[in-house]
Amino acid sequence: MPSEFPATPRELLARATIRLRQAGVQDPRREAVRILADLRGTSPGAVLSGQEQSVEPAEVVAYDRLIARRAAGEPLAYVTGLAGFRQLTLHADRRALIPRPETEGLVALLLERCSGGVVADIGTGSGCIALSLAEEGRFQSVVGVDQSAGALALARENAALTGLRVDLVRGDLTSAFAGECLDAVISNPPYLAQAEYDSLDSSVRDWEPASALVSGDDGLRATRLLLADAFRAVRAGGWIGLEVDSNRAGESVRLALASGWEAAEILDDLYGRERYMLARRSNGL
Ligand SMILES: C[S@@+](CC[C@H](N)C(=O)[O-])C[C@H]1O[C@@H](n2cnc3c(N)ncnc32)[C@H](O)[C@@H]1O
Repeated sequence: MPSEFPATPRELLARATIRLRQAGVQDPRREAVRILADLRGTSPGAVLSGQEQSVEPAEVVAYDRLIARRAAGEPLAYVTGLAGFRQLTLHADRRALIPRPETEGLVALLLERCSGGVVADIGTGSGCIALSLAEEGRFQSVVGVDQSAGALALARENAALTGLRVDLVRGDLTSAFAGECLDAVISNPPYLAQAEYDSLDSSVRDWEPASALVSGDDGLRATRLLLADAFRAVRAGGWIGLEVDSNRAGESVRLALASGWEAAEILDDLYGRERYMLARRSNGL
């Protein structure tokens, strides 16, 4: 049995694993190691190879606080304050949605089609998409837009953390842009219907911002507005790439075509769900 006050990482991890398991965390041992690694600013491997070292009482107290937050249901990324996205490690907290692995695929699809000029990430949240485009593309300029002041503050912190150059603007959809000035728009907009949000698992609903998730009664409000608004802001031959709800992929294509976009196509995410919509503005030829 682990002792009352752990003297080594092995004892600390054993006690935390029991606590997380009792709280219903799915992979308690892995998360216990991850939380200690992030607290120390090191890797899980380094934690596991130093299990017989001694631990300082202050570290035990700080670690137990993090374990208590995770046991209370707070998402792991908010507890550690860190989230991985493509090549980046970003700060994560309740001001913005936790970046999801599905969204990484949207970035890859846009980069395959467009890697230069001016691109706008609408609803930038933590800045994960905009910063990845700045890291991996060769854009003249990457602009991240969000209507949430809190999300933009987090995105600014992440820009400083990564040292990447993105312009971050508070605004509604593409209203900050003049007509036909963008080469591409990319967005992971809110896309849940109110009723879907109401029945979401509490691990998401109780922690992540509702404004990042809900989009009207049909889940399509932001997508509908953005498709029309972005058509005005993107130049002829430019692109739009959206993350969509797999249940509404067909309807998203219909909305895109109705707004004037062409060659709208749906692509699957890494779990095989219809998740991305890419479309192009006619180049006028
Ligand atoms: C699903 S989150 C995506 C965050 C981030 N891009 C990601 O993929 O993790 C949607 C974001 O859109 C923002 N948003 C919602 N409506 C908006 C609007 N009308 N104009 C600008 N941003 C909006 C929310 O504040 C939120 O940060």
